[in-house]
Amino acid sequence: MKYPLMRNNILREDLDAVIEHLKQEDPILTHGANVRAFEAEWSAWLGVKHSVFVNSGASANLLTMAILKIRHPEGGEVIVPPLAWVSDIASVLQNGFTPVFADIDPRTLGMDPANILAAITDKTRAVFLTHVQGFNGLTDELIAELTRRNVPLIEDVCESHGATHKGKRLGSLGWISNFSYYYAHHMSTIEGGMVCTNDPEVYQQVRMLRSHGMVRESNDNDLRTAYQTENPELNQDFIFAYAAYNTRNTEIGGIMGRSQLKRLDHIVKRRTENLLRFLTHIDSSKYRTDFKLEGSSNYAFNLILKHPDDDLVQRLMQKMRESGVEFRRGSAGGGNQIRQPYLKGIVPDGHHLKFPETEHVHFYGFYIGNFPDLKDVEVDQLCAILNSA
Ligand SMILES: Cc1ncc(COP(=O)(O)O)c(C=O)c1O
Repeated sequence: MKYPLMRNNILREDLDAVIEHLKQEDPILTHGANVRAFEAEWSAWLGVKHSVFVNSGASANLLTMAILKIRHPEGGEVIVPPLAWVSDIASVLQNGFTPVFADIDPRTLGMDPANILAAITDKTRAVFLTHVQGFNGLTDELIAELTRRNVPLIEDVCESHGATHKGKRLGSLGWISNFSYYYAHHMSTIEGGMVCTNDPEVYQQVRMLRSHGMVRESNDNDLRTAYQTENPELNQDFIFAYAAYNTRNTEIGGIMGRSQLKRLDHIVKRRTENLLRFLTHIDSSKYRTDFKLEGSSNYAFNLILKHPDDDLVQRLMQKMRESGVEFRRGSAGGGNQIRQPYLKGIVPDGHHLKFPETEHVHFYGFYIGNFPDLKDVEVDQLCAILNSA
């Protein structure tokens, strides 16, 4: 592919850091000191108190919804976007909650705050907001209104590392936030994810949920002692507080994360420069360019037709294929999640049609690769190809 979705996201320096570790006499490979150091360095970078490193962004979503389930065993509703990754909705279902969808704002591709607020009922347990493709999905009004109504905000920042709202990093504003370090993302630990929070109780619970629900995974002495005192007949090392999972990462992931984090700010800067160039060069009579850019940290170039035009879609796909431009149709997660088979019988038939902004992106939206390695001249060539469709 001449213009792939991602190139060189893992560099020689990351691999060398791993090799240095492996050169030791008897290196620890399961999660240990490097995982703990990565969590601490990530928390400092993000501006939160606690982070827990897991094996994927989907696992971060899963554990977060498991926390919500501990708070609300009775279930309830979680407000989610129709344009997101499957695990944002699957994790809600897996924990027995009902997903309630809110259509997107075309300028951020995230849920429109007005639609979120309109969807809140007395059964709403949380708003699970995805910052889509590097755009900031928050507004001051949304944050204030959710606080006023006592509805927890959970941020999925898997595609938007380094994006900000009013100078604060996304993922530091909600109750809990989730990140992914999958290969195509802003930084990569091959596979990996993070759950972040300022809530000490959530922190302890996520530590346990990550490792089979084991109490000894908590690093709060009082909490461990309380479980041990309540369960004197149990082997003290094997007390399982929750029916949970194994979603741990490894030292290799921790080492790669620490190495990559050192250049994350530079990565964000390069991606943003590329986006600005892309937006000034693509034909704004054919494609949308009026995105809300304040605080954004682009994940991929979004190519969304201004108007529904099936012929242009066909010409564009043909052009991209013959020019070696890798693309994904439907933008984040392949478009409207409500159309997916896993939601059949869960949402009413035809429910997807109630989300016209997402429907537009589903049929007339694409994303193509943006990464730090992309040169100005390549961005220009790419735009020339797209404009000629
Ligand atoms: C918004 C969002 N959430 C969650 C995930 C899941 O992350 P992972 O692929 O690391 O499981 C992704 C993955 O691309 C994503 O884009």
